[in-house]
Amino acid sequence: MRERVLCLLVPLLLAGCDDYHMIDQQKMEDDGAASALPRGQTDQPPVAGTVARGDSLREQQSNQRPPMTSALLERGHERFDIYCSPCHGHVGDGQGMIPQRGFPHPPSFHQDRLRQAPDSHFLDVITSGYGAMYSYAARVQPSDRWAIVAYIRALQLSQNTRLAELPADLKQRLEAGGSP
Ligand code: HEC
Repeated sequence: MRERVLCLLVPLLLAGCDDYHMIDQQKMEDDGAASALPRGQTDQPPVAGTVARGDSLREQQSNQRPPMTSALLERGHERFDIYCSPCHGHVGDGQGMIPQRGFPHPPSFHQDRLRQAPDSHFLDVITSGYGAMYSYAARVQPSDRWAIVAYIRALQLSQNTRLAELPADLKQRLEAGGSP
């Protein structure tokens, strides 16, 4: 019985193979017409803001430091609080909420090595990641990376400025026991 079923099935299966060449199926070709799609063709323009990997314009922007303005600092403050403070803490001491819950502790920005590190080091870390820290290139655009670096420098100053270097009015307020 089993042999008889097989004898019937095998020719059927082979015939089936013959009828269905996958290469001949209906499909859309590159640059082909497609009335159901916008512009009536299969190829669609990239979504606005799409950036190719290794985009030279973007790379160029990374190398161009924007002028230091209070708007840049403000932007850096905002971006830092969103993207960096969860791990690095609001003052950059490495005591953010995520390390408190088990992620490796980032180093404090207020140590000599990072105070002396050039701006390009911070830019590189944001762009490429560093050790346990992953890259923020996809989330922080090049001009914002500079804004964050400017803000980190401000944070570093905020924790390491001599009294004598402060403007007179701030100095007076501090000496009177108030906060700057
Ligand atoms: C998810 C947590 C996390 C976030 C968010 C994060 N970092 Fe980090 N970062 C780390 C950790 C952990 C390290 C230490 C990595 C290591 O040494 O392996 C680190 C290290 C660094 C360092 C020090 C590199 C060195 O030379 O020691 C810099 C600078 C830095 N991060 C900048 C940033 C900036 C700027 C942002 C925001 C755009 C950011 N990080 C966001 C976790 C984070």
